[in-house]
Amino acid sequence: MMMNSAFIKSISKTLVYLPLIFLILLISIYPLQFFLVEGKVGILQVKSDALLSDWVWKTFFYIHISFGGVALMVGWLQFIQGLRNYSMRLHRTIGIVYVLCVWLSALGVGYIGFFAEGGLIAFLGFMIGGLVWAFTTIQGYLTICKGRVIAHQKWMIYSYAMCVGAVTLRIWLPLLMVATNDFTFSYQIVSWMAWAPNLAVAYLIVKRKITPVALP
Ligand code: HEM
Repeated sequence: MMMNSAFIKSISKTLVYLPLIFLILLISIYPLQFFLVEGKVGILQVKSDALLSDWVWKTFFYIHISFGGVALMVGWLQFIQGLRNYSMRLHRTIGIVYVLCVWLSALGVGYIGFFAEGGLIAFLGFMIGGLVWAFTTIQGYLTICKGRVIAHQKWMIYSYAMCVGAVTLRIWLPLLMVATNDFTFSYQIVSWMAWAPNLAVAYLIVKRKITPVALP
């Protein structure tokens, strides 16, 4: 009975986040179009034919978008307390899938970042973003291996905030396009803006959630 009321409480908390979850699910299936639609879609429209016929770039691109999509799709489930209470084994399984997907997707960033639109500014924005994403995820994994639950929670909040960068990018980009009417400039800004404000929000969440008393 106790567990049921905790479960209901956590479900109602999830309902508050419903619009965000909806956007997360929508963007997590966005990569599907690159498999289903023939011809140039999304960012491919602005890529040169030489790059599009480069199988190394294509491999890393598809690795990035596929595993990134899965990480985004499953990651939010880890924050539902009711689900953790219901089955820790499920939490661990999803966690392993999430961590592996992030590493593979971030590995993809490490290659396709060199060919990103927007030159050096976008290159640095995406590369640093990819590194922060991989680093926070590795920390989240290592801390739980050592049984440091609070630190694990903290790192995973940062990790998923980075992952949600795929969603915030697609909110900021059209707004920046309207404001600047310049795709390259907007893309340079968004390569940073997609994730940096998310980290700030994650910091506030961590500060509010994890009080100094609870820190190890
Ligand atoms: C911090 C995390 C991430 C970084 C740094 C990052 C970086 C990048 C980079 C560098 C590109 C290539 C841009 C270009 O060639 O101009 C790209 C494209 C793409 N990424 Fe990510 N990415 C991240 C997370 C994700 C996630 C979680 C998804 C899952 C949906 C995702 C899906 C895509 C898609 C679908 C594209 C194709 C671009 C488009 O048409 O909109 N990315 N990303």
